[in-house]
Amino acid sequence: MRLFVACLLVALTFSTTHAQTGNPLWIPDTLAGPEFNLTMAPGHMHFFGEAQTMTAGFNVETTGRAFWGPTLIFRKGDTVRMNVTNNLGEETTVHWHGMHLPAIMDGGPHQVIKDGQTWRPYWEVKNHAATYWYHPHLHHMAQQQLLMGLGGMIIVRDEQEAALNLPRRYGIDDIPLALSDRAFDASQQISDVPYGDSAQVNGVLRAEWNAPAQVVRFRILNASTERSYNLGFSDGRKLRIIASDGGLLERPVEVDRLLLSSGERVEILVDMTADKGKSFYLTAFNSTLAQNIPGGDVIPVEPFRNALARKDFNLLRIIVGDPTDNPVTTTPQSLVTVQPHQATLAMLTRKLTISDTMIPGIPGATFLLNHRLFNMDYIDYRVPLDNVEIWEISNSGNFAHPFHIHDVEFNVLTRNGAQPPAYEQGWKDVVLVKARETVRFIARFENFADADHPYMFHCHIALHEDEGMMGQFVVIPPPTDVAEVAISGVVVYPNPAYEHVTVRSADPIDHIIVYDQLGAVVVSKATNDATETVIETSGLASGSYVLRYVLKSGKQSSTTHQLRVTR
Ligand code: C2O
Ligand code: CU
Ligand code: CU
Repeated sequence: MRLFVACLLVALTFSTTHAQTGNPLWIPDTLAGPEFNLTMAPGHMHFFGEAQTMTAGFNVETTGRAFWGPTLIFRKGDTVRMNVTNNLGEETTVHWHGMHLPAIMDGGPHQVIKDGQTWRPYWEVKNHAATYWYHPHLHHMAQQQLLMGLGGMIIVRDEQEAALNLPRRYGIDDIPLALSDRAFDASQQISDVPYGDSAQVNGVLRAEWNAPAQVVRFRILNASTERSYNLGFSDGRKLRIIASDGGLLERPVEVDRLLLSSGERVEILVDMTADKGKSFYLTAFNSTLAQNIPGGDVIPVEPFRNALARKDFNLLRIIVGDPTDNPVTTTPQSLVTVQPHQATLAMLTRKLTISDTMIPGIPGATFLLNHRLFNMDYIDYRVPLDNVEIWEISNSGNFAHPFHIHDVEFNVLTRNGAQPPAYEQGWKDVVLVKARETVRFIARFENFADADHPYMFHCHIALHEDEGMMGQFVVIPPPTDVAEVAISGVVVYPNPAYEHVTVRSADPIDHIIVYDQLGAVVVSKATNDATETVIETSGLASGSYVLRYVLKSGKQSSTTHQLRVTR
């Protein structure tokens, strides 16, 4: 009996090893700025022998693969200029996930790049050193275009990070790992479904990497459209986390498992100084995930059915060989000073909701933010420039959603009233809000105001986002009337106006008239000699207007005011 078990074990081990025969990890080339040329194009890959799988990628000619894209290296303080050409044969957008930049440069659903066109955003890099990424963000098309292979990583470097003894030789001891999953149909084409049946690292199935016996840094991105990864190592070693989405932590944090949801990044150090000749796996221990966590859900119907649901599976085999020259052999005890925003400085708390709803004709639940579906023309919030705000997201539903906000990096204040774990106490731009959980974060909306161009906030599960689990906010500029006060003695504020505009004067005003661009009177208001009058502008369309007022003293103002109204 004993012998029989032993034989069976040997056989099992053999077949597992055999099944795991891997493919070398592909590490994308880097591009350094300050100017970057990115071209999206379709192509094909050979994931299964000779079979051609139709895919798409960035800079296909130079990377040699029609999948994913080069890693962009930004230096904090540089002004980067991007030339993004779309040769896909269909519309798309390219979003710089995690970057703090003007809304019009953000690459959200409003910055559509038509087929054959080049989009040229530019901005000064203000983010901390960390790992970010770029990906398509066309409304209703995010899942499909991501699955085709479009995306890439961004590494921001800064002086604080450069001063630390950390591995930073890209491709040698500093390795990008973009985790994703794909489903292939019977003709080996990528299926447009939320979950895949096989895991990929940097687009490679059964990836393996020959590691040097020293301290190595992994920059791990969850680039999956829906799946979360409960990361750990097969040999039981801990994950030593040094950075979250938007920056280094104060000090390394060790955990056995780390749940990484769609869009999130983490940087870890792996000490392999004593491991020469060994091999082990970076593994998704997803068998322990609950039904209400993306990747732990077992749903035996299309399009959710998938082979990896609530299973453990390997992501990357790490085979340790000789160390390189000048290896990093120690890991620092402390990293940078993180100065989180103080809750006492918050000007307001915005309460957001996540809820499940059943919509007739749509199978399963549809997930809503703030009880509504995304509408490109609807602005949820107008955030005054420089506001420090707490966003409180309450999930009354039965499923966890990775909440992501553009423009800012935030600090998580609480999860259901309690302090978040240490690895969530740095800078973040995605936070998983579990079922029945309330997460509060704090952020400052600084530097870039533009009343006409919104930023997005949304669930980073691509299917949910495509189905409308997304909202918008604008950061509004301060009033611009200071110069006019001196000329006329009359103040019109705020300008641009949203719900209403106030006209204030030292002398009593008799009446106020607002004209549209064609000269038609849209508001005419007698003010009963008041020195301060509020005019409703909520009924006016976005655009420029001319505001005139007549003073009681009879002298009609000759300097009319340009009034802008923004919805
Ligand atoms: Cu990574 Cu709005 O996205
Ligand atoms: Cu983003
Ligand atoms: Cu969601």
